[in-house]
Amino acid sequence: MLDDKIRQIIDGCKSAIEWAKCARDIGEAKVKFLGKSGALTLLLKELKNVPPDEKPIVGKRLNDVRAELEAALERAEAEFAKREREERIKAETLDVTLSKRATGYGALHPLTIVKNDIVNIFIGMGFEVKDGPEIEHKYYNFTALNIPEDHPSRDSADTFYIGDEMLLRTQTSAVQAHVMEQQKPPIRILCPGKVYRPDDDATHSPMFHQIEGLVVDEHLTISDLMGVLGEFAKKFFSPETKIRLRPSYFPFTEPSVEVDLSCAMCGGKGCRLCKGTGWLELLGAGIVNPAVLECSGIDSTKYSGFAFGMGVERAAMVKYGIPDMRLLFDNDIRYLKQFR
Ligand code: DAH
Repeated sequence: MLDDKIRQIIDGCKSAIEWAKCARDIGEAKVKFLGKSGALTLLLKELKNVPPDEKPIVGKRLNDVRAELEAALERAEAEFAKREREERIKAETLDVTLSKRATGYGALHPLTIVKNDIVNIFIGMGFEVKDGPEIEHKYYNFTALNIPEDHPSRDSADTFYIGDEMLLRTQTSAVQAHVMEQQKPPIRILCPGKVYRPDDDATHSPMFHQIEGLVVDEHLTISDLMGVLGEFAKKFFSPETKIRLRPSYFPFTEPSVEVDLSCAMCGGKGCRLCKGTGWLELLGAGIVNPAVLECSGIDSTKYSGFAFGMGVERAAMVKYGIPDMRLLFDNDIRYLKQFR
């Protein structure tokens, strides 16, 4: 009777080991046969019913079986643990010959690159960078810059107004007036920033970037303007680049000029980029109108100044031969990548 039970337990445990698929199955068999309420444990509890003279033999027999099953389960468990570890390691193996997955590196937008290049060149010439508000009072955007009340740029069709007094600045020249109010000469500043006008075509955008320059000191003449901008052109474009001044008109400068660059593509012979003229229009500039100096409380009999304002998009288009400004705003990564 007892023998049958023992045989059953041994067979049951061995077949559980045989059919086990993983270490967990072995763990379950351990509980089932050797655990607190396991089959063999229950049988051991029945020892008290065995006649006293048989007890030592039966007891030994049960202990031997327990030791034997324990050893068999342990071996199986170790075998599974080993196999599972090997499989895990195999699955984790790195194939170092596989080519790596491409990661996208970030890059600066071409307009940021161009703006930084321009700013750095002027910093190298001793200019200081100044910031101004994009939502501006019409006094700084127009009045302080000698722009008369009836000037077309003040018209609501040409400027984004926010109420009667405030507007989205149409030019970074507005920063000039702020700086001259607060700072006395010598002044040598550069003001990069966004400006806004209701224009939208291949060469205009409702939002674009400008960089304004202003120098105020004693004895400044248009030769200083030419020297500074000529140096800038050589550094920004190429050492061979020349500039030329053409008469122009801005209310805040007198005289006013347009500054052209010799065309880098054809070296001045005339090509598609420069529309056959050999020159590319780059920026507006001039000698600061004494009325502008006086308006900000600077003595125009003692000080003079020169100023210039350039479009960053324009500079990028000229430098890289970009035909349409909208390419800079479409944010097509394939296009922008080329400038990295
Ligand atoms: N503010 C002018 C514009 O937006 C550019 C400009 C021209 C700035 C001449 C100047 C300057 O400082 O002297 O078109």
